[in-house]
Order: sequence, then C-alpha cells, then structure tokens
Amino acid sequence: MGKNSKILITSALPYANGPIHIGHLVEYIQTDIYVRFLKSSGFNAIYCCADDTHGAPIEINAMKLGVTPEDIIEKYYKEHLEDFKRFYVDFDNFYTTNSPENKYFSDYFFTKLKENGDIYQKEVELTYCEHCKRFLPDRFIKGKCPKCGAEDQYGDSCEKCNSTYQTIDLINAYCTICGGKPTRKKSLHYFFRLSNYSEKLKNWLENNKNFQPEVKNYVLNWIKEGLKDWDITRDAPYFGFKIVGEKDKYYYVWLDAPIGYIASCKNYCDKNGLNYEDYWKNKNSKIIHFIGKDIIYFHFLFWPAMLMGVGFNLPENIVVHGFLTVNNEKMSKSRGTFITAKECAQKLEPQYLRFFYASILSHSLKDINLDTEELKNKINSELIDNFGNLVNRSFSFLYKHFNGELVDFSYPELEEKILNLSKKVITFYEKLEFHLAVRTILEIGILGNKVFQDTAPWSLIKTNPEEAQKFLSFIVNVSKIMATLLKPIIPGIIERYENILNYKNLKIKNNINFELKSHKINKPKILMKKIEDLQLIPELPESKIVLKSGKILKVEDHPEADKLYVLEVDFGGNKKQIVSGIKDYYKKEELLNKNAVFVVNLKPAKLRGIISEGMILAAKSNNNLGIILTDLQPGERLKIENVDKYFEDEITIKFFKKLTFNSNGKEIFCNNKKILNAYPDKNISGKVS
Ligand code: MSP
Ligand code: ZN
Repeated sequence: MGKNSKILITSALPYANGPIHIGHLVEYIQTDIYVRFLKSSGFNAIYCCADDTHGAPIEINAMKLGVTPEDIIEKYYKEHLEDFKRFYVDFDNFYTTNSPENKYFSDYFFTKLKENGDIYQKEVELTYCEHCKRFLPDRFIKGKCPKCGAEDQYGDSCEKCNSTYQTIDLINAYCTICGGKPTRKKSLHYFFRLSNYSEKLKNWLENNKNFQPEVKNYVLNWIKEGLKDWDITRDAPYFGFKIVGEKDKYYYVWLDAPIGYIASCKNYCDKNGLNYEDYWKNKNSKIIHFIGKDIIYFHFLFWPAMLMGVGFNLPENIVVHGFLTVNNEKMSKSRGTFITAKECAQKLEPQYLRFFYASILSHSLKDINLDTEELKNKINSELIDNFGNLVNRSFSFLYKHFNGELVDFSYPELEEKILNLSKKVITFYEKLEFHLAVRTILEIGILGNKVFQDTAPWSLIKTNPEEAQKFLSFIVNVSKIMATLLKPIIPGIIERYENILNYKNLKIKNNINFELKSHKINKPKILMKKIEDLQLIPELPESKIVLKSGKILKVEDHPEADKLYVLEVDFGGNKKQIVSGIKDYYKKEELLNKNAVFVVNLKPAKLRGIISEGMILAAKSNNNLGIILTDLQPGERLKIENVDKYFEDEITIKFFKKLTFNSNGKEIFCNNKKILNAYPDKNISGKVS
C-alpha cells in the first residue's frame, strides 16, 4: 500500500435497534486497531461507519413501544457513540443510514442499475397478516417445524434441527405481533439480477490476493451453484427509503445499508474539504471493509455486484472475523453472557478488553472465546508484569537516582535485535495477525526486563554509576518502542506513558529507534492496575444452590416431634444427619436406600433440638407429597440447565426462599430452569420446597 493513496476503512454498520455488545466490539476494536496502526505508520487512512437504521424490526419495535422509529434510532445513535468512545473506537465519521446522502446514493444506485437492465419487476406471493395489515418478515412468524415438529420455530429455519424452509411450510403458523393466523398475499416487487454478475464476480474473486482463502472458497462455491436474483423491495409499513417512482414500496434495508459506507464517507469529505470520488472512483484509492462471518454473502456478492453496476471502486479487501463466544458458547441472555459494552465498561477497564481481543485475534474466521480467567491472566501476567513492570522499575530508578535524565548510550547488538523484532511486529499488524504482534511486543519486553535484571542497576550504581545510567537510558528507549507498538491497542494507557516519558505523540513512523538520549522524564506514576476480581458474567442465583444426590441409609422417628423423621444420608462416603417433615407421607421402608435430592449448603440448624445438616427436596400437591429422586450417584451435584458456573458457598435460608422450585409431574425446575437428573417421586406436580 502506498503512503500517498487514500485509504477508506469501514466496519459493518451496527443495527440501530439495540445496544452495542461485546460481540460487536470484536469487530470495532479489530478495525480500530488496524486504522490506528495505519495512521501511526504514516498512511492516509480514514475510518467511517454509521448506524444501520432501516428495516422491519425497528418499525415493529417502534409500533409496539408507541414511539416513532426516529425516536429509537436517535436514542441508539447517542448510546452507540458513548459506547464507542468508552472503548476508544475512534471513527473519523460515525453517521446514519437515515441521511440525505444515503437517500441520494440509494436512488442513484437503483436508477442506474435499472437503466442497466439489472433490475426487473416480478409478482411474488408473501405471508401476510390480515389483522396487522402487513406482510410478515420471517422473524415475525412462528410455528411448528415441518421437519422435526419442534414448537415455536421462526419462519425461515428451525433452531432445533437446523432445517430451512419457507414460512408457508410451518405448521400452525402464527403472527408474533398479534397471534393471528397469517394468509398469503401477492405483491409486485423489484429484483436485482445478481446472476448477470456471476462471471465478473468470479474473476474479481479469483484475481484478488488479499481475501482469506476460506472465504474465497465459500463464495466461489455459491457462484458455481448458481446465484439467485435478489428481492430488493419491501412493502409498507416499513422504515426505510421509498423506492423512486413508487408509493408504498421501500428499498430493502440491505440495499441501502452498504451504500451507507459511501454516504458516511461523503459526509466526512464534505465536512473536511475533500472529494468522496477520490475514494470511490479514483483507482489509486483503497477501500477495506471489516465484517463478521454472518454477512459474507452481502459483502462478497450483492455489494460488489452493485458497485460494478454503477462503476464505483470495489473493495481492495474485506476482512472477515469469527464470532465471539463466552465460555465457548454463543452469547446468550439466559446464561447471562449477553454483555453490553456499557455493562462491560463498568466492570473492566475497556482497554484491557482491547488488549485481550488483540492478543487472541488473527486473520481468520475462527470464533474467538472470552474466558475471564484467561483475560485476567493476559492483563496481569503479560501486559502488566512485562511492559508495566519494565516501565515502572526503569523509570523510578532513573528518576530517583539520576534526576530522570537520559544520557547517550550504544548497544548495537541489543538495539539491532529489538529493531528486528519491531519490524516483525509491524508485519504482523499489516497481516492482521494481532495475536502475533502482541506476542512479539512482549518478546521485546522480556529482553528489556532481562537487561534490567542482568545489569542490576541497584548494585551497578555503587561501582559504575555512569554505566548504570546508560543502561537505564537504553531501557527507557526499549519501553518507548514497546509503547509505540502498543499504542494502537491501548491508546489511552500509552498517552499516560507519554506524559511520564515527557514525549508526546509516539508514532511508528517516527519512534521505532533508540534516539531518545539527552532528555528528561517526568515523575513516574503507576501506569496500570492489576485486575483483582473480575465478575463480568452476572452470577445466576441458581448457580449458588448446592443440590446433591444422597442415599438414605437410616430413618428414625424424631424423639420430640411426631411429623419429623431423622435421616442418615450418605453423600458418597460422607454421611450427614438430616431432619425432615415427610413422616405423614412416607413409611420408613419406602425411604430406605432411595437416592434423593438434598440441599447441602444451608447453614446447619437445630430442628426441635436435633441438628439437621441439610434439607430434602419434595414436591407438594393439594394433599400429597413426593420427594425428589435422582439417578445420580450419592455425592454427585445436580446440574441446572443453562448454568455454566457453580458455586459452593453456604447460602442463607432467606436466599433459598427467593428461589422458586416447581415440578410438572415429570421434571423439576429451579427458577424455570430444568434441574437435570431429578424426578418427582409419585409423579407429583406442584411447588417444591
Ligand atoms: N447492520 C448489519 C450490517 C450492515 S453492513 C452494511 C449488521 N449489524 S449487526 O449489528 O448485527 O452486526 C454488526 C457487526 O457486528 C457485523 O459484522 C457482525 O458480524 C458483528 N457481530 C455481531 N455479533 C457478533 C459476535 N457475537 N461476535 C463477533 N462479531 C459480531 O449485521
Ligand atoms: Zn398480526
């Protein structure tokens, strides 16, 4: 890439109907690091993005809330800006697709493509709700899966068996807005003849050297299988741009969304005295999109075909990343792993998330996993013990013993080693192998720390203070190089470093060298704090109750109470005494040798003078009671559906009473989550306690 060509970088436009979450942040942080790296290296890059404001979900959401779609997009626009700021995602322009520029370009594309003969009209039959007076998008129809019979599946695919189908195939389909039964209705739609571009797209893909091979393969395969024409119309009610020359028809959101890249760029250029055509029409410019793997089809087929049709520049590269998982599973609201950017920032220094993502990101479609222990470890033992420690000890020593003054030095061998490692870091950044860039920066730190350790300035100062000062000056230069290389990842922390170094504006193009010599640093301050306790994922109350399988070995009458038994229960070699009020419902021999479910982390309590070290669970109906049985071995802990993390601490009776237990006659639920391997004796359904 030439330093003179203009580079436009984009991230996919986030939908304006929900908050930014830590999954989105993978993309915005990846892109932002890349842009900061380019700028620091002297490239002429700008970073443009926008909120993706149109579509049926926003319109339906607004209707349900009794507000306008504009109210919703305005609210999220503000929130998104705040979130990006928190995480140091520094767009040159963050715009909206609901803008005059975007309307202009959408009409321009539509008209031009129609003139080309790429757009034609065709009548289609779609699912319609008579009651709501609207066509229903797939996501707003539910019913029974025609393949596996699973209830409550969406109109396009089944989450249980993964089969895909048409909304008309659903059994007992219903409108999720009103619950009514949908019908079918005809409508005249516009279609984009994607197949016109098959050959051109194929050539474009085959000749591009930047695309990830796996993506290229996917897309070439789709082309080989034959491209279907694309329905670009939506009927009113809809939130979007009306199609030129039409009354109740709108551009489908995915038509105007990528055009939003151009609109945001145009808006930026207008504000800064530039010409957007320098990015979109000049052959020396470069456009690079960053996207997630779920939107490959739109970016590698529809979008380039549209650009070809109007004669705009095609992207030079489209970088595709994988999805964020939390504890190796998809983010989920019920598991408490759907963490918004705002919540995350309340619990964790945002730059630590940036560093963590950088240290696991590569140029690949592989999903990346958030594990809080790993994150903590990367921050504490890699970033802070390595870079933080090098800065701290060298700066404090220099400040204390040499008035913070650097002197001339020359260690050609070490210097060369570090400059070579720095070159590698730069190459890894260019290749989007951020995890390797981070690892190599840390190698520099290991070297620097070793020099400090080996020269031992604390004792050298007594015999040869001049030499000690030289080594320290060298080490400060090492940390300066590290800081320059780390700056795209943790810009705010490095700004604090610059303040202590007393040298602003570190840049890769200027500062990868050992030239800071006659210079004085400022009074050192702690740069970073270690993470002590990180509780990113909220604890579910269910995760705190310890339910264990216990085998009833002995049943005796309570000496003081006629309704109580005193049980001796085996929990896999560990015996407990448990007092229980089930005498009215069970004979002694009915209980003996049964494996039942016990709560074992309540504080032991005396019941009519006899100590009880736990509680047996039982389901109660109007006039009967049944204990809860299990097929787990004595001592094994029962798991609860959707709970990943379990705690062992003691709970109070007050806490226990806040949990709700139920039996449906076959299964047992705690806070509506199924307790696995637990069954009500006598099939009793009702409350469990
Ligand atoms: N609005 C469209 C994009 C239009 S681009 C012209 C969209 N929006 S989105 O809000 O759903 O996603 C925005 C970006 O975030 C996408 O690239 C998407 O892949 C990415 N991610 C959303 N959830 C993600 C994870 N859990 N993990 C990683 N990236 C994720 O798609
Ligand atoms: Zn309806």
